[in-house]
Amino acid sequence: MILSLDQGTTSSRAILFDQEAGMISQGQYEIRQSFPYPGWVEHDPEQIWETQLAAARDAIQASGQPAAAITAIGITNQRETALIWEKATGQPIYPAIVWQDRRTAQQCEELKNRGLAPLIARKTGLVVDAYFSATKLAWILDHVDGARERAERGELLGGTIDSWLIWKLTGGEVHATDVTNASRTMLFNLHDREWDAQLMEALRIPRCILPEVRMSGGEFGFAESCWFGTEIPIRSVLGDQQAALFGHTCLEAGSAKNTYGTGCFILMNTGTEAVTSSHGLLTTVAWGMGEELYYALEGSVFVAGAAVQWLQEGLGVISAPAGSEDKAREVEDSDGVVVVPAFTGLGAPYWDMYARGAVFGLTRGTTSGHLVRATLESLAFQSRDVIGAMEKDAGMPLTGLRVDGGAVRNDLLMQFQADILGSEVTRTAYAETTALGAALLAGLTSGVWSREQLERFNKAEKVFSPLMEPEERERRYHAWQDAVSRTMGWEKH
Ligand code: G3P
Repeated sequence: MILSLDQGTTSSRAILFDQEAGMISQGQYEIRQSFPYPGWVEHDPEQIWETQLAAARDAIQASGQPAAAITAIGITNQRETALIWEKATGQPIYPAIVWQDRRTAQQCEELKNRGLAPLIARKTGLVVDAYFSATKLAWILDHVDGARERAERGELLGGTIDSWLIWKLTGGEVHATDVTNASRTMLFNLHDREWDAQLMEALRIPRCILPEVRMSGGEFGFAESCWFGTEIPIRSVLGDQQAALFGHTCLEAGSAKNTYGTGCFILMNTGTEAVTSSHGLLTTVAWGMGEELYYALEGSVFVAGAAVQWLQEGLGVISAPAGSEDKAREVEDSDGVVVVPAFTGLGAPYWDMYARGAVFGLTRGTTSGHLVRATLESLAFQSRDVIGAMEKDAGMPLTGLRVDGGAVRNDLLMQFQADILGSEVTRTAYAETTALGAALLAGLTSGVWSREQLERFNKAEKVFSPLMEPEERERRYHAWQDAVSRTMGWEKH
């Protein structure tokens, strides 16, 4: 068996896979979201660890098999979320600052004013934004009493959630991260493949707190026997979006996937070439295997499933996310209503920290059905924004898109996605693509599967083909772009 640990933004999950990459059993616990101030999002690192451990133990127990039957552990995690803990005690010095957190927008503004954006883009493949880990780590060092001095004295360790889990699992033996997580910090030089001295200095991050960077498929030590009753090697670590790309077996350059989670994350494999975007996308590491780094172009949309959550919790117009499809089918179309869910600013390809959400085209005839339908459509429009940018960067049209995540069960949304893209959308048979990806890489690294075998897993379940007329597609998309442009910079009012 392979044990996959999937530490996501809203829950900690663990899944055991068999030799055919089929799911044997699983465990899952929600994690608390804290919003201490507007724009701030925090997680409790201890709760992350405890829920992850409990989920793994539940999965093992439910499998009815001994932990000794587990060949390897694969770890995949919410990316960018950053924390710092004491080396001696393992005590976090502050909550984990979540990727969605915007508190360091001002610091990012300053970095841009200092003219650092082109340098950062060239070295890391990233745009300067509060999304990434470095300014979050610096914020903790600057705001927790004595933290900066303690870090300089070598008393603190920091990193992303993968590092925290590795450190806990190995009983403090290993402080490591993988190339995919490192590539989301704004400190990792994509070309030299190491932490960049100039960036660490510019962003004021002491080298001694940072983990060692390793290949995603590799050796990350052993989970101590105190956790599962036996030692288990950790053989893969990669960020959750990269894991989903691997789980879709998008192993060839040019293949792409979209995960509809809290946000939408679209990644296109570009092979061993780090393609630089001139259209607002990120260049990121897809995975590191053997001696080779594979790269991807990525577009992150901050609010996708979270917009459906807003329909339920904020507006009360649906009672559960699954109800959004029936509600949207109450009306024939969105009747000119456009929802731009820029609740936390806009990610790719716009990168506007100050954009805020808006609803356009309301009339006396607008119903909650229209609002729900327009909100679902906003997920597809935002995905098209990103894919359009990818096509321009790659210089070729997208041939098809593989999809996963909660919202892909919504046939109305998937059909609209194919319609608005004008290309096929493939829903795969296996929904847990992220956990699967970490398991496949751990299995590949430990010799359970060959690369050729991986292609057999996770076949298509349903293919959605575009039905919308091209003129209609462009008319609708143009209205969307117009609406987006009106939300930009709103917070500055
Ligand atoms: O970049 C953030 C991303 O890794 C979070 O993914 O699935 O936990 O919302 P998810």
